[in-house]
This record gives sequence, C-alpha cells and structure tokens, in this order.
Amino acid sequence: MIIAIDGPAASGKGTLAARIAAHFGLNHLDTGLLYRAVARDAIRRGGALEDTAAVAAAARALDAASLDDPALRSPGAGEAASIVARVPEVREALRDMQRDFARRPPGAVLDGRDIGTVVCPDADAKIYVTASPEVRARRRYLEIKGRCERVTYEQVLEDIRRRDERDAGRAASPMQPAADAFLLDTSNLDIETAFNTAVGVILRKVGQRGHRK
Ligand code: CDP
Repeated sequence: MIIAIDGPAASGKGTLAARIAAHFGLNHLDTGLLYRAVARDAIRRGGALEDTAAVAAAARALDAASLDDPALRSPGAGEAASIVARVPEVREALRDMQRDFARRPPGAVLDGRDIGTVVCPDADAKIYVTASPEVRARRRYLEIKGRCERVTYEQVLEDIRRRDERDAGRAASPMQPAADAFLLDTSNLDIETAFNTAVGVILRKVGQRGHRK
C-alpha cells in the first residue's frame, strides 16, 4: 500500500504522515528531507545553490543514511531546499530514490509536494493537506521557538509565503493537489481530528481499490 501526502510548508503533513504510517504499519519518508540534504551537500562541496550542475551532482550522490541530521530542520535549510527543488535534474535523481522506497514491502507513506502528482501517481490514497498561511506560520513559529531558536512570527510568515510562491510557481513538478486527492484543510482541525479524517479517507479508498501490497 502506498499513501501520498502532499501540501505546503508547515501544513501538518509530516506529523500526519508519521502517524498514518505507524497506524497502518508502513514505512515513512519525509521527502522534504531529501531536498534539504541536497542543498546541504551542495554547499559542503563548495557549490552554490544556483549552480545547476553542482546541485544535480549532490542529488545523484545523496546518501540516504545522512538524513538524520538536526541541521536539516532549520528554516534556512527549508529555504535552501526550495531553491534546489526547482532544478529538474535534482528532482529526477530523487524521484527514483523515492519510488524505490515506496515499492519496498510492506509499502509506505511519503509526504512532500509532488508525491500524488509525479512520484507515485498510482498511490492507493492521496491526501493534500492545507491550512491558511497564518495558521501554518503560527505552528511553525511555535515549533522553532520550542527548539529555542530566535525567530519572529512575521519572519516565519514571510518565509512560508515566499516558499509557497516558489514551490507552486516552478515549472518542474509544481506543488499542486492531484486531481484525485482528498483536500484536508487543517486550519480549524486539531491533529487528532485531522488524523481520524485521513484514516477514514484511506480506508474508503483502499476498500474501493482493493488492498494492494
Ligand atoms: O516541512 P516543510 O513543509 O516546511 O518543508 P519540507 O517538506 O521539508 O520541504 C522543503 C522544500 O523542499 C519545499 O519547500 C520544496 O521546495 C521542496 N520539496 C519538493 O520540492 N518536493 C517534495 N516532494 C518535498 C519537498
């Protein structure tokens, strides 16, 4: 079983994807970490984020074991990720890695921007998680403050708006809901309600398609 969870920055898709994976006993991949790691590696190798050849090389050489790096969670890493994520060669290199992960038994939940549209268009269930920019900024602000990093709500909101624009506006695999995705607006939902709604959607979809391993 493959489940695609997409949506904009800080929409709650990561938390939701992790809980869904645990609930159904599936593997989970936060695909945003791949783009964050590519940006990190390109810089470490002395390249610039705008250097297409350098970021493509970093994507092709990416070590999946290097994703467990707390530095990847910083706001700067998210911003850098959205710059390298525009490069088609980067997306191509990461696509195969994501598809291999999805195919591994017993199946997986992948969260990102283009899972339902490009990476796993045949996913058993697709959910597009949204929330207003203000709600998302508030959540991300509290998360960053919780790690004792200095930031203002206004900075976080601006970062989210800029990233939304870049992710939705790019030519290669822009962020958008798949035609057959269920739209889950979490602006006024707590995590429990969002989770229960998502599980209901998945069970309905899987019931219709038949359980595929
Ligand atoms: O956690 P948050 O939603 O803030 O970001 P993320 O999911 O870690 O993604 C960071 C950046 O990677 C995004 O802003 C996108 O530009 C890019 N990304 C992408 O292009 N495609 C994906 N499947 C996942 C992330």
